[in-house]
Amino acid sequence: MIGIGIIGYGYWGPNLVRNFFETPDCTVVSVSDLSRDRLAKIGPRYPTVETTTDYRDLLRDPRVDAVVVATPVSTHFKLGMEALQAGKHVLIEKPMTCDATEAQRLVDEADLRKRILAVDHTFVYTPAVRKIKDLVTKGDLGDIYYYDSVRVNLGLFQHDVNVIWDLAVHDLSIMDFILPAQPVAVSATGISHVPGEPENMAYMTMYFDSRVMAHVHVNWLAPVKVRRTLIGGSRKMVVYDDLEPSEKIKVYDKGITVNGDHAGNGNGNGNGNARYQMMVGYRTGDVWSPQLDITTEALSLELRHFVGCIQNNTTPLVDGHAGLRVVRLLEAATESMRHSGRPVDLAANRCTV
Ligand SMILES: NC(=O)c1ccc[n+]([C@@H]2O[C@H](COP(=O)([O-])OP(=O)(O)OC[C@H]3O[C@@H](n4cnc5c(N)ncnc54)[C@H](O)[C@@H]3O)[C@@H](O)[C@H]2O)c1
Repeated sequence: MIGIGIIGYGYWGPNLVRNFFETPDCTVVSVSDLSRDRLAKIGPRYPTVETTTDYRDLLRDPRVDAVVVATPVSTHFKLGMEALQAGKHVLIEKPMTCDATEAQRLVDEADLRKRILAVDHTFVYTPAVRKIKDLVTKGDLGDIYYYDSVRVNLGLFQHDVNVIWDLAVHDLSIMDFILPAQPVAVSATGISHVPGEPENMAYMTMYFDSRVMAHVHVNWLAPVKVRRTLIGGSRKMVVYDDLEPSEKIKVYDKGITVNGDHAGNGNGNGNGNARYQMMVGYRTGDVWSPQLDITTEALSLELRHFVGCIQNNTTPLVDGHAGLRVVRLLEAATESMRHSGRPVDLAANRCTV
């Protein structure tokens, strides 16, 4: 039986406690929050769970094997590091840390102490994202050409992080899981419409060594909620709409065929349009929507996986390295925004022009 301690019982913490309660082979030992009012809500619902305002009680408790950090991002590094140093396995909320140096130090500490370090990129555990990964891996989409997502709504304005750290983190975690290659550079533009507050809308473009391009558009100031991703491949294309109740994924057998005979035929007769039509042919086939098992909450699947990784000493699907890669992208995008969208080289995390 794996003993769980949870730090942070604000908005997300209760979802973690509820789902751990339904997870086999584990028991929630204790929950910590700075607010006594929040902790007071635990007793009536979960009488066996202990509560404390001092998170160090969890770290000292030998019944706690794993600690979940569900506090604001500015505290993730300190709490995650102390938990690892106390010999606990750690599941840390997204985004993993405020900067890549901190994320790297957590990865190193977990390696050194041979502890499981997982990051809560919840979307990776949704059946929709797992299905897209499966389609990409099996080659059903062909060569991936682009990843293009929109995540906008009239959202809660955050004061400590910009919209990229709040919303794009989801898209970047999905992209990191699905695409076979890592971006090499990123450029981002964004703007704040509230003086003195972080950017509330932003556009991120990611460049790869191959012919892949990725774009993420996020906005807290949109009149409608949109959660839509297009993934274009040489054979098929996917539309993933997370707001669709059941048919979240549609796979389109659509694309183009380029006639190689004419591709380089610059005969100079001035008939550019006719030549273009000869070069590019359009293919439209069936559209299908794969059946997804949406009966189990993604967070529940994730927590079962986390407990299984501890029991079997296996690497989580979203480990510290995945958390670090996403933080690097967020950091580089924020750096690019400061320089009006100049591309930032991800290897060096420097503006390239
Ligand atoms: N995976 C997801 O889909 C998802 C969704 C929402 C939030 N989150 C993440 O969860 C984390 C928390 O977000 P939230 O919306 O619940 O924030 P929140 O502000 O509602 O709650 C954070 C809680 O942490 C407590 N806290 C802060 N420092 C503490 C400490 N030292 N010891 C004990 N308790 C402490 C606060 O008192 C507060 O109750 C963030 O990293 C956020 O990005 C993830």
